[in-house]
Amino acid sequence: MTARATAVAHSNIALIKYWGKRDTAIALPATSSLSLTLDAYLTRTTVEWGAESDSVVLDGSRLNGEAESRVTRFLDLVRRLGDRSDHATVVSHNSVPTAAGLASSASGFAALAAAATAAARIDLTPRDLSILARKGSGSAARSVFGGLAVWHAGTDDASSFAEPIVDPGLDLAMVVAVVDAGTKTISSRAAMQLTAETSPYYPAWVESSRTDFTDMLDAVARADFTRVGELTESNAMRMHASMLGATPPVSYWQPDSVRVLQLVRDLRVSGTECYATMDAGPNVKILCRRTHLDTVRDAVAALDIAGVTTSLPGPGVAVSQAET
Ligand code: ADP
Ligand code: DP6
Ligand code: CO
Repeated sequence: MTARATAVAHSNIALIKYWGKRDTAIALPATSSLSLTLDAYLTRTTVEWGAESDSVVLDGSRLNGEAESRVTRFLDLVRRLGDRSDHATVVSHNSVPTAAGLASSASGFAALAAAATAAARIDLTPRDLSILARKGSGSAARSVFGGLAVWHAGTDDASSFAEPIVDPGLDLAMVVAVVDAGTKTISSRAAMQLTAETSPYYPAWVESSRTDFTDMLDAVARADFTRVGELTESNAMRMHASMLGATPPVSYWQPDSVRVLQLVRDLRVSGTECYATMDAGPNVKILCRRTHLDTVRDAVAALDIAGVTTSLPGPGVAVSQAET
């Protein structure tokens, strides 16, 4: 019997952000968050148990250093769950640019969690898979699910999980303005920790994001696109404001990021209602209605930046192949 499985997971972009942990050991976030899983970007990961040592190949290159140990520490958790001591061969492909602020760690660890457990014949509920994925990368807890997902901050390991929420007809879509698909110089993990430890604005971020989260749940339930968009944009700006207050300051913005933010304001004035969000990277994601996807994409393309991608809500994680 080969203990091998392949899983596919899509990346997700938070409309209400996760930025900072209250417990780094088990990845409990400081605040709850809410995201949209994208159909445009995915990770496909195959895990095979039975090896002498763990190895990880991502897009054809063997991982080493911190990227490799993040995966092997994660595999330790799966070994403990499955009560096994052998090692795994991991082969992964990202269609999402890696470490560019487009949530490769979310799709990456959701796919790894699903493939590693399926290959080990560990049968987890979606909630328990979300809890496991969270320990690889916090945002991965949400990529277990499609469409809109909330990650409840929780108070302990068992209560910090994501779950899908019903979209009552918001008809959301996203345009990704790719400013730079290159690798960030400071990981999301390091940047959020530095912000939490050194920014005098961090407590204010936590307080206001908690309010944003409950307001967002209310706006989604009412299918109030305008309110969803306004909260999305202001929550992201406040997260970046908290980073600017860190010592040393953290800024992921590039000149083209600002050009896209200005375009979003101009589009709104001219009647195309859309809102911007940014993560730990220079790329700008524009939330719009599905009917405006082409208008927004064409306007971004006219800026002549590195690239533009359109996305609809994507599916949750799927084990695409489990051999017996
Ligand atoms: P991003 O904005 O892409 O999520 P992060 O700084 O959060 O950036 O995480 C990037 C890191 O996530 C990579 O350097 C790598 O360690 C890990 N990662 C990304 N994709 C994968 C994958 N498919 N398999 C395993 N690890 C991955
Ligand atoms: C700005 O989930 O990548 O994208 O848990 O340390 O792996 P770790 O961090 P990660 O952080 C994501 C930060 C963000 C906002 C978000 O996705 O909610
Ligand atoms: Co990430």
